[in-house]
Amino acid sequence: MSEMRVPAGPGGPSVVCECECDDVFLNEVEKVASMYRGRPEDLVQALHDVQSLRNYLPREALRVVARTLDVPESRVHGVATFYSMFSTRPRGRHIIRICESAPCHVAGAAEIIDSLLDELGVEMGGTTSDKLFTVETSSCLGVCGVAPAIMIDDVVYGNLCAEDLPEILRRYR
Ligand code: FES
Repeated sequence: MSEMRVPAGPGGPSVVCECECDDVFLNEVEKVASMYRGRPEDLVQALHDVQSLRNYLPREALRVVARTLDVPESRVHGVATFYSMFSTRPRGRHIIRICESAPCHVAGAAEIIDSLLDELGVEMGGTTSDKLFTVETSSCLGVCGVAPAIMIDDVVYGNLCAEDLPEILRRYR
């Protein structure tokens, strides 16, 4: 197994927000969005920063971003749901992305996926009951030389075999 830290990569599917946002959280969102006040060209970066607060983008947070950057809500929602790196669905504290592209597939990604979902007791796209992990598929993580690979938050684990998973997950528990 090999391990490396890389910038955050693509995420999984996005659906409509299901949460209720409290004032404390919305104040945090406003504070972050204010760094981009009146700068619609920085919408993607603003959404990145806001998402880092809770690992996803609740609907109310999108409204705050729209108002602060002076961008139509429909556009903010469109961007937040277009890019796979964003999620408007609540996710766990740690995001596990499993590469499904051809080189990883050939190198045994299917076995890694089965073992990981089994170990966590979730389905693909799901979040563990303790809200610690969300598991998503990903296209190439850019580390095909160490396929099969997964990424947990901003750390890539390559040359994986199913037996490595329990030890890796333990580091995040
Ligand atoms: S195909 Fe999996 S990292 Fe490139």
